[in-house]
Amino acid sequence: MGRAWGGLRSSGGGARGDSSNKSACPARRIFSIIIDCRARSRGPGLCLGRSDGLEKGLYSVKIAVIGTGYVGLVQGTCLAESGNDVVCVDKVAAKIEGLNRGRIPIYEPGLAELVHRNVRDGRLKFTTELASGITEAEIVFIAVGTPQGDHGGADLSGVWTVGRQVAQALTGPKIVVVKSTVPVGTNAELARLMAEVTEVPFDVASNPEFLKEGAAIDDFNKPDRVVVGVRREEVAERLHELYAPFLRTDRPFLVMSPESAEMTKYVANCLLATKISFINEMANLCEAYSADVNDVRRGIGHDQRIGFHFLFPGVGYGGSCFPKDIRAVIHMAQSRGLPARMMEAVDSVNEAQKEVLFRKVSQHFGGDLKGKTIAVWGLAFKPRTDDIREAPALVLIDALLAAGAEVRVHDPEAIPNVREIYGDRIAYCDRPYGALEQADALAVATEWNEFRNPDFEVMRRLMRQPVVFDGRNVYDPERMTALGFTYQGIGRIG
Ligand SMILES: NC(=O)c1ccc[n+]([C@@H]2O[C@H](COP(=O)([O-])OP(=O)(O)OC[C@H]3O[C@@H](n4cnc5c(N)ncnc54)[C@H](O)[C@@H]3O)[C@@H](O)[C@H]2O)c1
Repeated sequence: MGRAWGGLRSSGGGARGDSSNKSACPARRIFSIIIDCRARSRGPGLCLGRSDGLEKGLYSVKIAVIGTGYVGLVQGTCLAESGNDVVCVDKVAAKIEGLNRGRIPIYEPGLAELVHRNVRDGRLKFTTELASGITEAEIVFIAVGTPQGDHGGADLSGVWTVGRQVAQALTGPKIVVVKSTVPVGTNAELARLMAEVTEVPFDVASNPEFLKEGAAIDDFNKPDRVVVGVRREEVAERLHELYAPFLRTDRPFLVMSPESAEMTKYVANCLLATKISFINEMANLCEAYSADVNDVRRGIGHDQRIGFHFLFPGVGYGGSCFPKDIRAVIHMAQSRGLPARMMEAVDSVNEAQKEVLFRKVSQHFGGDLKGKTIAVWGLAFKPRTDDIREAPALVLIDALLAAGAEVRVHDPEAIPNVREIYGDRIAYCDRPYGALEQADALAVATEWNEFRNPDFEVMRRLMRQPVVFDGRNVYDPERMTALGFTYQGIGRIG
């Protein structure tokens, strides 16, 4: 029977690991230690009085990151950039092979340059071999995907697999940090599961990730806050040392229980998704009553209790996080016999909103899209990423194809991913204007910067009909009308 120091199991005198032992890790006590640690910390690798097998020393921290996706690759690269030795592990051989040849598997602004520099300087390595990848690591981050499972909740199979593999490979004490977004209780269950596999002591901490794709490097380097969930103060101290270089502008390092940390991530995403569904519902109401949601947004945003963030109406949220996280919370509530009325509403408003753009297109053409060519600008679920998971543009394309329309698309980064889904069923255009050739209408699904100020004269010349459906309210309705376009935004007077 193993010893999860931070886990629920305590055997062989591991009382520190007993979560029922309140003195082991009262959040307030930890916090005072963190303040003290902050005062003394001189950067990464400066270890202040570690004990329990975590060796004391002056060296860059050896880190392994399991799961080299949008989160893991950014995490590993930014930690390498701050001087640590990082090994990124992934089970997809092609991804690792590509990275070892300098090919970055995702688009994230600024990432490629950082990866190349840190590989060149020997601080960043890639492997498919988990056991050898974690051998030297003191801290192992788990950043594998936690997609929606069949039951609606998060599919944790990747986390369990990696947990077991890490446990099997342990040769000395390590801190295992769950970065993936996981339901409350995962940390405890992971510690239990790992302790079944290994005799070697370890800690399991939770450290939810709040980065935004498209601004991930900036978010990692200048986080609004870092949240860690731990069961032992030494673990919080160690993680604080690791993150200290990123918290120099006095950003808070918040220490809490793993359960609260796990919940924090979901609550943050639930609130953000709620704001989006709220303003989308209001936008549709504005439209029905000839009010302009943009004016309304300004009218409410100056109220400091409300603010402007996340109150831009559009075609619904997508991506790898909000949709599945909201459904995971619904599932968590149902599992405890609790209602999740608000999140159910947020999810269903969003699903309906993803169809708004198609409805507008279809209505404009009297329900008959056969033989019509529709251009779509923006395919990624948001600008500055190539991520198309749950992207509203895909819902639009599916509906257009089902209605018999021809579809011509442009996106600055996401075309290769979209091509994998649609093959030759749609036309891919390298340039925005290319998509407009002989188009009966343009639908803007993602607000990339390059769409904001196009040459409208060129657009009119290229299009068969000057019709624009603006799913992100990029353009000014009055100006578009003055330029001779038939224009519809979301919640705006067109
Ligand atoms: N993408 C975001 O913006 C974001 C932000 C915050 C949190 N998160 C959370 O972070 C986690 C990762 O998200 P992501 O977007 O980076 O996912 P991703 O799908 O881009 O990357 C996950 C990676 O893990 C690898 N992987 C899966 N199982 C593995 C295994 N057994 N061994 C080794 N590698 C394995 C996959 O091959 C993939 O490369 C998720 O829980 C997500 O909810 C994501």
